[in-house]
Amino acid sequence: MAKVRMLYVCSCCGSTQSKWAGQCNDCGEWNTMIETAPQSERKRVSFTPDGGAEVGIQSLHQVRLETETRTRTGIGELDRVLGGGLVHGSVILIGGDPGIGKSTLLTQTMAALADRLPCLYVTGEESLQQVSLRARRLGLTDHQLSLLSATCVEHIVTLAARQQPRVMVIDSIQTIYSEALTSAPGAVGQVRESAAQLVRYAKASGTALFLVGHVTKEGTLAGPRVLEHMVDTVLYFEGDSGERYRMIRAVKNRFGAVNELGVFAMTDVGLKPVSNPSAIFLSRHDEPVPGSIITVIREGSRPLLIEVQALADESHSSNPRRICLGLDSNRLNMLLAVMHRHGGIALYDQDVFVNVVGGVRVTETGADTALLLAALSSFKNRPLPTDLISFGEIGLAGEIRPVPNGQERLREAAKHGFKHAIIPKANMPKHGDNIDGLTITAVQRVSELVELANQ
Ligand code: TYD
Ligand code: MG
Repeated sequence: MAKVRMLYVCSCCGSTQSKWAGQCNDCGEWNTMIETAPQSERKRVSFTPDGGAEVGIQSLHQVRLETETRTRTGIGELDRVLGGGLVHGSVILIGGDPGIGKSTLLTQTMAALADRLPCLYVTGEESLQQVSLRARRLGLTDHQLSLLSATCVEHIVTLAARQQPRVMVIDSIQTIYSEALTSAPGAVGQVRESAAQLVRYAKASGTALFLVGHVTKEGTLAGPRVLEHMVDTVLYFEGDSGERYRMIRAVKNRFGAVNELGVFAMTDVGLKPVSNPSAIFLSRHDEPVPGSIITVIREGSRPLLIEVQALADESHSSNPRRICLGLDSNRLNMLLAVMHRHGGIALYDQDVFVNVVGGVRVTETGADTALLLAALSSFKNRPLPTDLISFGEIGLAGEIRPVPNGQERLREAAKHGFKHAIIPKANMPKHGDNIDGLTITAVQRVSELVELANQ
């Protein structure tokens, strides 16, 4: 058989070369040349996104709307992040740290679906015995789920085309390789080519496809970012593998809202959905402690009460440390600068550590006021009342800006027995909309916030 010549494509500018090089000749970027199969070598499958025949140009009103066929997976929190169920022909990438529960969740999902639809679980990482042992631990033994242990993408696609599953899992995409390329599995080119073939198969056959992706130390999906562009939905597991609660966040979703959060508890019989997670992260100290406050964030479509903790400690370094877990550390630096400039409190000789309890990651700015109050409370060693909540965004000019859904956040806090709230003036409930049992203090400037903390 004639030797197939490989092409090397620059992942930055897209130029091609016949030899690998450390630096791209065209754009000058380093380490961007990736092995790719020449076009003619690839098996081309022609399809349209809806799997039907090729059509010409149409105007918007001519497009035939078919109701999206969604299948509920039977796991409520997963359906929630998917936007109401699994869409046929969609490709979903699930990323997360090792041991966070990707395989566990997909085994549970597939077992729940296998009663209604033909399902195929392809494992490239574990042996069939390991998968079956896990299923036994989860109490899922007598299910119709088909298993396949394989790593060659051409082989997988051929077998899948024969068995015609409606839902398929590839665990994980980093272990899959294509015969068209010579590089090792896990290499950027291999991941991209294998994923491309699987995505093509899923779209052509209308199979819903889950791809499991590993996460690097930096927290991004290993392999090319292009994987995120190729799929319809990207879900990330969040939380710590040592913690009880695990969260799944939709960071991209062509069939639903992004930033929706699904919450699960890891138990000895697998992942259990937590359908009302608003207060699970509260630790409720018996005595008020300095440096701790509760805030209400809104993740997706639900409010969530979380505890923000801060510790300010005298620094012996010329470059004091600013460490954040669960929040953006640039945001902390910015807020400390605002507090100095507009509140007159300098923390330049203090190490400041901030933590969000329970491994939650806060992506919105509504926790700004809570973060400042916690840092101030630790610095002054004065506890804040345990029945106090605060939310609001802080701007560089020292102003406190409103956050969306203020009323809903206040109501959630009142429901959980909180008595006081410090919130932006513009989030103040209108006259007559008072929330029972909640005394609200409205603030407009950082200086007012600092004064409140000093009282
Ligand atoms: P796993 O799903 O294999 O993680 P991933 O595929 O993301 O690497 O394993 C998740 C962890 O959860 C593993 O350390 C064992 C633990 N676990 C439980 O606590 N309870 C269970 O019922 C199962 C199946 C796993
Ligand atoms: Mg796994």
